[in-house]
Amino acid sequence: MTTSLDRSSASAPEPRSDAGSRFPVDFLWGVATSAYQIEGAAFEDGRTASIWDTFSRVPGAVFGGDNGDVACDHYHRMPEDVDLIAGLGVDSYRFSLSWPRIQPGGRGAVNQRGIAFYDRLVDRLLERGVLPWVTLYHWDLPQELEDAGGWPARDTAHRFADFAEIAMNRLGDRVRWWTTLNEPWCSAVLGYDTGRHAPGRQDFGDSMAAVHHLLLGHGLATQRLREAAPEPIQVGITLNTAHALPATDTDADRAAARRADGFGTRIYTDPLVLGSYPTDVVDELSARGVHLPVQHGDLSVIAQPLDFLGVNYYTSHYFSGTAEDDSAVEATADGVALTRLVPQGYPVTAMDWEITPFGLTGMLTRLGADYPGIPLYVTENGAAFDDQPDQDGEVQDAERTAYFAEHIEAVAAARDAGADVRGYFAWSLLDNFEWSYGYDKRFGIVHVDYETQKRTVKQSGRWFRDNIRRSRQG
Ligand code: FCB
Repeated sequence: MTTSLDRSSASAPEPRSDAGSRFPVDFLWGVATSAYQIEGAAFEDGRTASIWDTFSRVPGAVFGGDNGDVACDHYHRMPEDVDLIAGLGVDSYRFSLSWPRIQPGGRGAVNQRGIAFYDRLVDRLLERGVLPWVTLYHWDLPQELEDAGGWPARDTAHRFADFAEIAMNRLGDRVRWWTTLNEPWCSAVLGYDTGRHAPGRQDFGDSMAAVHHLLLGHGLATQRLREAAPEPIQVGITLNTAHALPATDTDADRAAARRADGFGTRIYTDPLVLGSYPTDVVDELSARGVHLPVQHGDLSVIAQPLDFLGVNYYTSHYFSGTAEDDSAVEATADGVALTRLVPQGYPVTAMDWEITPFGLTGMLTRLGADYPGIPLYVTENGAAFDDQPDQDGEVQDAERTAYFAEHIEAVAAARDAGADVRGYFAWSLLDNFEWSYGYDKRFGIVHVDYETQKRTVKQSGRWFRDNIRRSRQG
């Protein structure tokens, strides 16, 4: 398959320079990170272990045996990092709170030294004219809550709501933008089914229970945030909606793509927006003897009005419902067997993820059409490439720059097609701890030398800054 967007990674074209001018002046431009991936200071000032501290110590779980003990040392370098963010000219910085730093063990009293870090971060961002956008949960569950059952246990949803209230009580006088969860699919499926992410459990039924309790936690936390907010806030959730397409136009492949869409997207969006789980997914689960642990009233808690929906997008997946041979049948992105991912031959990033900007247009327009009336924000988009500083210390990451240019064009195309997309966050501000890939994969628009912690803005970072300037010129 070829499209006009095809390109070989060896000869990336000059990125278009006018993408920014296709956005209104009030479009929100930002950069994103998450706590465990950048903060380090893993056991300082009263922070206790999260599931990622534990999981990264399991032999073989993380590439190179890496962990987040030091990461980008952002905990100690926060003031300079905020200056760096401000220098990029962004409107907003999306970061997450470390739950075990703020509430060690996941219950009980607030750790004053832990929350003080976020107080300082928020103050500094505001001083520099950057809007803080808080994610409450980006995967670092306090280990004690995992020991008590983790997300497959209903109580974790209630603990999360308590944590949300703590955060609001302390930061709500200055933070207006709140995301409850980042990518519950990853927490549930990678954490409890495939075991590729912390806590590394492998039980399909548990992963589906985790889906429900994550969504319940989102609903309970949303209620508590709104009750405790001293002034009007914007609350939403960020999903990595699976853009699932049929590999060919056969019934089997269309059914496979629909199944992948059910388990990757609709199992989240339907209860969140429509207040019910999709029937085809529920039926398939029943056939497999799995029942979502829904209690009376849960769905109305989950379906709290959303002020926005955050969309994280990296690639699209093509599915086949036909096995090539028995060994090709595997549990894939939807966590469901008998659905096979079929690579299409597009150029790939260092993650081996195919570069499919048209899929971002498709996903945004689809969400806008199927769930109308909810403003959309691209809360993550970006690419890993193996880039290193050259002899002059510059990082000429033309491939990443091209990736951003093409995907920002794709967002503009979605807006042209009627999708209400109001912002875009580049993933990521810094090279950082890329979960089970450790420090091997670099997503930053700023290079980090992990030996010296030196930050160097890459070509893509400069392009992003210039792109924002162009958009401000209208
Ligand atoms: C997303 C995660 C983010 C980062 C990017 C590459 O799934 O939210 O933390 O790992 O992928």
